[in-house]
Amino acid sequence: MLDVANIASKVSALPKLGLGVGLRNEHFNHILSEKPKVDWFEAISENFMDSGGRPGWVIRQIAEHYPVVLHGVSMSIGSTDPINETYLHRLKLLADDVQAQWVSDHLCWTGVLSVNSHDLLPLPLNQETLDHVIARVHHVQEVLKRPLILENPSTYASFQNSDIPEPQFLRALSDATGCGLLLDVNNVYVSCFNDGIDPLSYLEAFPFDRVVQMHLAGHTNCGSYLLDTHDKPVTRAVWELFRLAWQSTNCASTLLEWDGDVPDFRDLHLEVLKAREFMQGEFDARQLHQQQSVEPHSGVSNPLDFIVHEVRGHSRIGS
Ligand SMILES: [Fe+2]
Repeated sequence: MLDVANIASKVSALPKLGLGVGLRNEHFNHILSEKPKVDWFEAISENFMDSGGRPGWVIRQIAEHYPVVLHGVSMSIGSTDPINETYLHRLKLLADDVQAQWVSDHLCWTGVLSVNSHDLLPLPLNQETLDHVIARVHHVQEVLKRPLILENPSTYASFQNSDIPEPQFLRALSDATGCGLLLDVNNVYVSCFNDGIDPLSYLEAFPFDRVVQMHLAGHTNCGSYLLDTHDKPVTRAVWELFRLAWQSTNCASTLLEWDGDVPDFRDLHLEVLKAREFMQGEFDARQLHQQQSVEPHSGVSNPLDFIVHEVRGHSRIGS
């Protein structure tokens, strides 16, 4: 097992990259031909790790000009299925190949019994889960030969047997493994709204000293719940959470995620550059509670469907 203190010191030494954007295939040609002045890119690991074709060629070209971070959606660190060793080895190969600044994924599970939900599903946050995830993070870091950075997910349900608040769970996980954290302030806002938690209380308890990276994104207000859609500008409330958190993270590298109705690259970049306005100034609590417009939304699967219909009775740690 890798030395935890050594992993933690590697996390502390990771660079401050500035303001980056998610690498999306709609922008490949623009980035390669124009070489826009962007601090860094985050690439979805799974979109590149199995590709020897154009995506593989593109990310290698981009990695020659920009810092690249790998962000995964399939590690399923909380599942009771065995960790997919083939996936881990392919991920390591890609990370080595593009000299990834770091590799991240989510505190979640994506499936069980070899069924992939293609959703980032919530975990029951208790000691049993913590022990389970700690052992798996140790293994992942051993294989990747680098720290793992884990993100707080957006959630739409919580478990009756959860008894450790998420910020404390992430702190304990980081203490035990040395892993770093990715603080997604949009996910904080979405999850807290959906679970009836005060986002300020959440942030007060968050282990900012472990944060390597932050995420910004837009969400959709569906009335009784918020959906993490990544298809519109960051809301003012989320910008205020960013203002509150960013300085506490000691200026962590910050990235805008945008996955639906992806705008022109220049507009996308301008959206993340708005962060400069919120890296200073007084936190405005009134903006946190502003009324948002409610939009009818369809076409996004409801994660609850999977939880209720596919998982009940099968998950050892969720039962
Ligand atoms: Fe995120």
